Amino acid sequence: MTDVFAGKIAVVTGGTSGIGYAVAEELLKRGATVWVIGSRQESVEKAKVSFGRYANARFAAVDVTVADEVRGMIETCVRESGRLDYLFNNAGIGMTHPSAYLTLDMWKKAVDLNLWGVIYGIHFSLPVMLAQKSGHIVNTSSLAGILPLPSQTVYCATKFAVTGMTEALRYEYADYGIAFTSVCPANVATAIFGKAEVPKEAIPADEAARTILAGVEKKEGIIILPAFAKTLYERLSKDPELKEKFMLEYAKRRNEGWVKCVPYLGVPDDILEMSR
Ligand SMILES: NC(=O)c1ccc[n+]([C@@H]2O[C@H](COP(=O)([O-])OP(=O)(O)OC[C@H]3O[C@@H](n4cnc5c(N)ncnc54)[C@H](OP(=O)(O)O)[C@@H]3O)[C@@H](O)[C@H]2O)c1
Repeated sequence: MTDVFAGKIAVVTGGTSGIGYAVAEELLKRGATVWVIGSRQESVEKAKVSFGRYANARFAAVDVTVADEVRGMIETCVRESGRLDYLFNNAGIGMTHPSAYLTLDMWKKAVDLNLWGVIYGIHFSLPVMLAQKSGHIVNTSSLAGILPLPSQTVYCATKFAVTGMTEALRYEYADYGIAFTSVCPANVATAIFGKAEVPKEAIPADEAARTILAGVEKKEGIIILPAFAKTLYERLSKDPELKEKFMLEYAKRRNEGWVKCVPYLGVPDDILEMSR
């Protein structure tokens, strides 16, 4: 049986690191041609070396916060590869911070990358896919794009927007052969945590990539991972009182963390226990 991704053309933004890198590699293994995109030439050069064994890997340095660069990325892909079957709008940054101390520059940086980067990707690829009468746009949101996680105000603002527009587009274009998916990871062990400790419940990026592609293959609307995050979301969605209690407790814990200068990036076990 032929793999659904074999022979397909995919663009993966943020493909030089973490989840995007793992998705790009899994697609390459499964026979897709993949445009691996990073913003820095240095990270793109590193990816060229590590993906060297894949003849079907292509590379470009593109800053997705710049509309013309995203237009160029899509045009180059279509000119050189002939079409565009999958666009993974995956590049993004995290931001967990006490909200009173957010600067406007922090807001702007996150909105430019996590939201405008995705908007540009959709804007320039949708006409291509409509002309082809096929295509699939996969936007990386977050668990913070479906649950209002405290101390993640900016991040929630960008990721709720990503999930919202992806859902709206999914219904609007269902009859046109274009699929849309939101990917909502909780904790995946990547460079997004910077110097902070990676939460112990984080899963490896290659495991995340396999879960993501299994959902993309089935054209799922929202893919939530890892398993604990899916269970958490489902439990809290069904029980508004539990959601209120959970969020207030989580906020309290994160607020205490800021005071002690020990930020909680993951979900403390006893709080998670409330949702089991
Ligand atoms: N890891 C998690 O636990 C987690 C949880 C929820 C959601 N997410 C989401 O998953 C996505 C991937 O995150 P990750 O954890 O894999 O992060 P990561 O390892 O830090 O990778 C980020 C990627 O984005 C690229 N990038 C950054 N700025 C860019 C720009 N202006 N233009 C183009 N590319 C740019 C980086 O390339 P350069 O270095 O070349 O700039 C890098 O390839 C993000 O949208 C993130 O919000 C992650």
